[in-house]
Amino acid sequence: MGRTALVVGATGIGGSYVARQLVASGWRVYGLARRPSGEPGNVTPVAADLLDMESLEVALGGVEPTHVFITTWMRQATEAENIRVNAAMVRNLLAALASKKTLRHVALVTGLKHYLGPFEAYAQSGTLPDTPLRETQPRLPEENFYYAQEDEVYAAAERDRFTWTIHRPHTIIGMAVGNAMNLGTTLAVYASICKETGRVFQFPGSEAQWNGLSDVTDARMLASQLLWAADTDAARNEAFNIVNGDVFRWSWLWARLAEWFGVQAMGFSGSIQPLETAMKNDHEVWREIAQRHGLVEADLDRLASPWHTDLDLGRPLEVMTDMAKSRKLGFTAYQATDESFFNLFSQLRAARLIP
Ligand SMILES: NC(=O)c1ccc[n+]([C@@H]2O[C@H](COP(=O)([O-])OP(=O)(O)OC[C@H]3O[C@@H](n4cnc5c(N)ncnc54)[C@H](OP(=O)(O)O)[C@@H]3O)[C@@H](O)[C@H]2O)c1
Repeated sequence: MGRTALVVGATGIGGSYVARQLVASGWRVYGLARRPSGEPGNVTPVAADLLDMESLEVALGGVEPTHVFITTWMRQATEAENIRVNAAMVRNLLAALASKKTLRHVALVTGLKHYLGPFEAYAQSGTLPDTPLRETQPRLPEENFYYAQEDEVYAAAERDRFTWTIHRPHTIIGMAVGNAMNLGTTLAVYASICKETGRVFQFPGSEAQWNGLSDVTDARMLASQLLWAADTDAARNEAFNIVNGDVFRWSWLWARLAEWFGVQAMGFSGSIQPLETAMKNDHEVWREIAQRHGLVEADLDRLASPWHTDLDLGRPLEVMTDMAKSRKLGFTAYQATDESFFNLFSQLRAARLIP
C-alpha cells in the first residue's frame, strides 16, 4: 500500500514501541527526536527539535509520510508553560508537514490527564471525575496542554484535509531510558535497591489507590491501537481510551511484583510514603549496584521517575478506564497486567538495566 510513517518522539516509552510495531508490520518508518536512535532496525532516524522550525523543515525535507504518530511532550514547571511549549511542538510539526501532499492521517497520543486534570490540579480540584473514564466525558474547565495539542491537530486537519485520531493511555508500562515518566522501570529500580539493601518494598501511594480498582497501558497495547486506527475507516476523527483491558488492585499486584524480585512487600500503612523521599539518597547506592552488577546505566535519574509514580499512586480516587468505544469498532486486543510488568522486568534484565 506504500504506507510511510513518521513517528514523532520515536525514542520515548510510547513512540519506540509504535516504531517497532510499524516496522514489524512492513511499514516504511521514520523516527523523529532531538537525539534519534537507529533502534529498532529499519527506522530511519530524523534529528530535529520540534521547537525549532528551521531544523524541522530541513530534517523533514525528504520525508513524505502518509501517517504521522505524535508521541512526544516536554515537561514544564506550570500548566501554562506546558500549554505554550507542547502546543507549539504540535503546531510546528504540522506546519512543517503542511505542504506534503502524501499526508492522510495524524494520530496524537495524550492521556488520562484529559479527564483528571493537569499535574498541578491532578485529580484534586472540584468534583472527582466519574470512573470508569469515558471518551464522552466533557473537557474540564481547567486549562490543559492535551486540549491545546488536540486543538492544534483539529485546526491543521481542517486546513490540510487529513484525518485524525486521539489516543488516551493510562500509565504506560514499557522500556525507555532517559524519558520523563516511567512507572514500571521506577518500580523495578526501587525493588532492585530494596533487594540489594534489605529494605522493605513499601507501597508509596494512597489508600484509594491501594484498595481501588486500577488499570495501566502496556506500551505494546498503545502501539497496537495506533496501528489499528491507522487502518480502520470507522475510527477516523475519533478519540479513544487505551488500556490493557483488565482491572486490578495494587493490593493484589504489589505482592506479585515483590515476589518477582524476592523482596518483602509492605502495603498501604496508614499514610502516603512518597517514593521521591524513599529514593532521594539512592543515587550513590544505585551507582554502586550498577558497578557491582555491570549494569549499563549508573545514573538513577535516567531510569527512575519517582515524582510521577508518586502522583499516579497517590491519587485520592481509583482510576480505571472504559474500553468499549474502540472494542465496538473492532479493536479487541487484550493484555494481562501482571504479565506487562513481568515482561518489562525481563526486558530490563536482558538489557542489563537492572541486576
Ligand atoms: N509515560 C507515561 O506513563 C504516559 C502515560 C499516559 C500518557 N502519556 C502521554 O504520552 C505522550 C507521550 O509521552 P511519553 O511518555 O511516551 O514520552 P517520553 O517517553 O518522555 O518520550 C518523549 C519523546 O519525544 C522526544 N522529544 C522530546 N522533546 C522533543 C523536541 N523538542 N523535539 C523533538 N523530539 C522531542 C524525545 O526524544 P529526545 O529527548 O531525544 O528529543 C522522546 O523520543 C505525552 O503526552 C504523555 O503525557 C504518557
